[in-house]
Amino acid sequence: MNIAKIPKIGLGTFGSDRFTPAQVANAVKGAIDCGYRLFDCAAVYGNEDLIGEVFDEAINSGVVKREELTIISKVWNNMHGRGDVLLACAKSLRDLRLEYLDIYFVHWPFPNYHAPGVDGDARHPDSRPFRADDFMTCWRQMERLADIGLVKSIGMSNMTIPKLDAVLPQCRIKPAFIELELHPAFQQEQLFDYCVAKGIQPIGYCPIGSPNRPERDKTPDDIAATELPEITEIAETLGVHPAIVCLKWSVQIGAVPIPFSVNNYKANLEQTFNTRPLTDAEVAKINRADKNCRLIKGQVFLWDGAKDWRDLWDEDGVIVN
Ligand SMILES: NC(=O)c1ccc[n+]([C@@H]2O[C@H](COP(=O)([O-])OP(=O)(O)OC[C@H]3O[C@@H](n4cnc5c(N)ncnc54)[C@H](OP(=O)(O)O)[C@@H]3O)[C@@H](O)[C@H]2O)c1
Repeated sequence: MNIAKIPKIGLGTFGSDRFTPAQVANAVKGAIDCGYRLFDCAAVYGNEDLIGEVFDEAINSGVVKREELTIISKVWNNMHGRGDVLLACAKSLRDLRLEYLDIYFVHWPFPNYHAPGVDGDARHPDSRPFRADDFMTCWRQMERLADIGLVKSIGMSNMTIPKLDAVLPQCRIKPAFIELELHPAFQQEQLFDYCVAKGIQPIGYCPIGSPNRPERDKTPDDIAATELPEITEIAETLGVHPAIVCLKWSVQIGAVPIPFSVNNYKANLEQTFNTRPLTDAEVAKINRADKNCRLIKGQVFLWDGAKDWRDLWDEDGVIVN
């Protein structure tokens, strides 16, 4: 997958424990029909089999050609061990009914299992912190998948600069993409610039600030990107929902946003591109509105002895383990 060819926007497919696999698959169908060509899937979202039926139908009926689609999947945290990544990829390919994936991500850099939907405070006794050696065991298998053509390109998700510094020099095949949380209230400018400087394309998740994220991912201090005055003011001048301003900003800074939607995906595609671009002054104003407010904290991945979710994100510039 040539990073220059990735569509400027995609559709997320995580139902946030609120939307059934059938609802999400139905949104994927509608999204293909109205022009989306990039889909962010993952084994852990629990809906790849139904989404696969939609891809199969759309390709076989001639609505879209396989090569026009960019399809992402991700290996979950409990499948990092030797041999496991190959199995995980095979399962996603079978569920999605594909012969290859365009992009395959390591979903999180922690080899930890937690049952889907568990409470945010739940700790699994086998959870371990990040270790570069463990990660490279996983990454070697990702490279092998790229070698044999089952995936066109490979990437990492939920990384930090210290973790990337630790693993990039060891990669035979460097990640072409990084998936990271990115919205006006959490811009991760340093990580974004680091990726761009290394020729890695950022893909921004939760681009609208994930208003319907699972309850376990909500805390009282969270700030809603769509409620920032900088966003609502611009939305008013454009006559669009604040979500559209978030998406326009993401596209214009060169992130590839992957908004989830079952109700607004058509409007998101049309209004992001058919309304006037944000001016440089508007982009600069949104850049200054950053609140450094991480929403997807990942606390369920904490290991015994970890302080709190900040330990996952190496905020002091060194890997916490
Ligand atoms: N790599 C990772 O670890 C990771 C982590 C989290 C998420 N992701 C990916 O990123 C995707 C997006 O993240 P997300 O779903 O958490 O957050 P998001 O895309 O920021 O927000 C999605 C929510 O915004 C609402 N919305 C969308 N367009 C709207 C509009 N025009 N007006 C009003 N509301 C609107 C949607 O509701 P409606 O359905 O009503 O439109 C939906 O509930 C996920 O689906 C997943 O694919 C990846």
